[in-house]
Amino acid sequence: MSSVRLVIPESCCEGKFLVSHGVQRVDTLNGVVCSATTFMPRRWERGSPRHIVLADIPHISSEYRAGTDIAVFRLPQHLIQACEEIGYSRMRTIQDLDVQRAANTRGHKHLVAQFRSYLIGELGMSNNDLLDLEITFGEPGLASVSSDETDGSYVGLHIDDWDQLPVPNRDQSRVLFCANLGSEPRYFMYMDLTINAMATRLSGSRGGNYAHLHPDAILTGYLEDFPDEPVFAFKMEPHDVYIAPIQNVVHEGSTMQTSSPDVQIMFLGYPI
Ligand SMILES: [Fe+2]
Repeated sequence: MSSVRLVIPESCCEGKFLVSHGVQRVDTLNGVVCSATTFMPRRWERGSPRHIVLADIPHISSEYRAGTDIAVFRLPQHLIQACEEIGYSRMRTIQDLDVQRAANTRGHKHLVAQFRSYLIGELGMSNNDLLDLEITFGEPGLASVSSDETDGSYVGLHIDDWDQLPVPNRDQSRVLFCANLGSEPRYFMYMDLTINAMATRLSGSRGGNYAHLHPDAILTGYLEDFPDEPVFAFKMEPHDVYIAPIQNVVHEGSTMQTSSPDVQIMFLGYPI
């Protein structure tokens, strides 16, 4: 059974982690009625991930399995400096950010290009199919940030489907690079089993083979059968980064307890 490990420098761990008492099904999220079966973590408390690897430079640690593990680290100083010059973290409303971006299109594009160079040149991500997901601005104070574009409802714990690989091959999917460019911490929540391992465990409890189903169906079945399984969350301080296998691991973002806009830069790509 494949466990998802958090690979993180020891210096980043202080006061960083939350653990939930399982999951619960919700009918509304952020005040919006859910349009599909939706699960969220149930009651948080401080705790630690079950599987953690302490590594100063996670992306080149020999223990890091890019398609299965989640890496957390700090942006290099030159990118922090570039972000500060643009000034995203000083904006207090999403309108401020939109105005700033429109007024400084060249600076904004140059920053995205600097990040792209860093991903390819220093993190070793492949240039092939490296997708720039842009800099996004989100609302603060949300328990869960991802929404369904078709109806605006929030999706809660989920698994992404960009590459649509079969469940047993999901560790070959592109991974998400995401940096927090806002002025406040945000949370990344995840469960520490791969979707294939969830399918295997579900087959054990229900009988049959679940690995050929769509990940959404596996996730719903798994959370119905194992509602006491914990969700883990780590706090991303401003200028923290994660690289996560979002097509292989159940996850979601949160801006709980914040009052300033959520600003992220994201890329989807193949690790080397
Ligand atoms: Fe996602």
